[in-house]
Amino acid sequence: MEGDRVLLEVKEKYFPPKELVEGANVKDYEKLYAESIRDREGFWDKVAKELHWFKEWDKVLEWNYPHAKWFVGGKTNITYNCLDRQIELGRKNKIAYIYLDERDRERKITYGELLELVCKIANALKELGVKKGDRVSIYMPNSIEAVACMLACARIGAIHSVVFAGFSEGALRMRIEDAKAKVLITATYTLRRGKKIDLLSVAKKATQGLDFVERIVVWDRDREGVKGEKLIDLYSLIERQKPHCEVEVMDSEDPLFILYTSGTTGKPKGVLHTVGGYMVNTYYTSKVVFDLKENDLYFCTADIGWITGHSYIVYGILANGTSSLIVEGAPNYPDVGRWWRYIQRYRVSILYTAPTAIRMFMRHGSEFLKEYDLSSLRILGTVGEPINPEAWLWYYKYVGGQRCVIVDTWWQTETGSHMITTIPSYPMKPGKAGKPFFGIEAKVVDKDGKEVPPNTVGFLVIKSPWPSMLRTCWGEPQRYEKYWNTIKGYYFTGDLASYDEEGYFMILGRSDDVLNVAGHRIGTMEVESAVVENERVAECAVIGKPDPVKGQRIKAFVILKEGVKPSKEVEESIKQTVREVLGPIAVPDEIEFVEKLPKTRSGKIMRRILRAKELGLELGDTSTLED
Ligand code: WT7
Repeated sequence: MEGDRVLLEVKEKYFPPKELVEGANVKDYEKLYAESIRDREGFWDKVAKELHWFKEWDKVLEWNYPHAKWFVGGKTNITYNCLDRQIELGRKNKIAYIYLDERDRERKITYGELLELVCKIANALKELGVKKGDRVSIYMPNSIEAVACMLACARIGAIHSVVFAGFSEGALRMRIEDAKAKVLITATYTLRRGKKIDLLSVAKKATQGLDFVERIVVWDRDREGVKGEKLIDLYSLIERQKPHCEVEVMDSEDPLFILYTSGTTGKPKGVLHTVGGYMVNTYYTSKVVFDLKENDLYFCTADIGWITGHSYIVYGILANGTSSLIVEGAPNYPDVGRWWRYIQRYRVSILYTAPTAIRMFMRHGSEFLKEYDLSSLRILGTVGEPINPEAWLWYYKYVGGQRCVIVDTWWQTETGSHMITTIPSYPMKPGKAGKPFFGIEAKVVDKDGKEVPPNTVGFLVIKSPWPSMLRTCWGEPQRYEKYWNTIKGYYFTGDLASYDEEGYFMILGRSDDVLNVAGHRIGTMEVESAVVENERVAECAVIGKPDPVKGQRIKAFVILKEGVKPSKEVEESIKQTVREVLGPIAVPDEIEFVEKLPKTRSGKIMRRILRAKELGLELGDTSTLED
């Protein structure tokens, strides 16, 4: 695909409403962008001063390719900025979160109450012996409790590793083991489409035999009573704690959290983010890209188990003192009206969601939306995968009533915050994420690092460091260096992209063996390893196929062991294996039994050939093919 011209070109530009431009937190993108590139350090220095530091930094940036340190020597605590400072600014009684569980039960928490809850959990963790630098795994549903547990870790300097509650035993165990978590925090269950998913059983199985896990703290949602080895009830534990907990004074470069994400090998990588740079970058992108104002009600539909939840449900949003809506469960359960009812009921002004959800709603037409008053909406965001112009226009017209702006935010777990998007005061182009954010130099290059001409597909790379970039991969420094060594001089994003004459970027998807299924990043090798755990499977290769709603769907080619006959039953048992090892999101949609897989002479599976055959494309270079 690299080098191809982009066929689908969106010519039309959409302009933000005048009032929105006039009231925007940043009105002149071009001017500020030029400034931010001319004096990157001066730019971030000014932004960082908007936040609270116990001690200011001596130097904004120390760049030792490929290692960066930001706000060097600075001392702060991200929870001080997210909580204590908000109270100092008079937001003690302001709503931090309105939470709705899948049964539609509402719970509200103010900034003042959230601080108290966080302090109690922080004190509880201290009582359990958790210290600065210790790892705490969090395997919980989207909830106020989960957010509070993340913040409690950050308050005492423990490194949290949140594991998406949709992952199963194998995926959870790998993450707990890799991080050597001292404590695991979980919940008795989560609800998905009315079904109870027993998280506690998964947590117990996933930690079996892991001696370094000293305690499993359980949010006992229905007060059923938790008993068992290592188990301890969250609320009884915090009942006896003091509501004050001094923050741990953290160095700017101290670790904040690990978040595992899929790569091209079978093992996900533990992306490590640090306190200072991540805090400044998520705070500022939240403020500018969502144009946050005092009376906004912001609704991000992501799960805290992903980076979107970390940066734009928790840290960046709280650092701005904003009120948010947070929900548990599926967008279309009990019916497709769920989100729109909430938007109407609570007067949501900013909605941040994924293209896959938009395409799911689109299948129901647009009539159903007319039942809801969506006039409170001002800004619509999308993230996770390319949004096709058709879905963009549907979102713009029917959700936004042609008066809202759309911010199509391109970024990654590794980048920590938004990297490419048009900001609300800037003209939009459907299907194009838009322009690099302040301080970000994005380029489209060929494999030798040479810039390609406009409207040509190439690799999307970033030229210089930014505050919330990942600092390393937990325990695997060589994997970190690969980001900066693949194309010399650049951070390699793994995405294909093009840019047009006006400098708008269009993201075309991954260039590597990473799938994007409904906005979830899944490694082909991870799925393959899960499939071969089924005792009847000899070999497996996995590819992604285009899907009208999910973006991509998973297809697995499977060679069965000698003597095993293909059948529906074998197919189901393979799916069950993947469900147990990784979780429902990684289950192949299609399984084809084959006798042979295309391989190179050195034995590497050529997924490219499978993909081309499957989609009826040209096979390309087959000179390395074994046979
Ligand atoms: C990959 C990163 C960033 C939070 C969610 C995903 C794809 C992300 C967009 C967008 C086109 C996008 C890319 C990227 N992606 N946002 N606006 N347009 N593609 O985080 O799991 O780290 O995945 O998601 O392929 O590399 P992630």
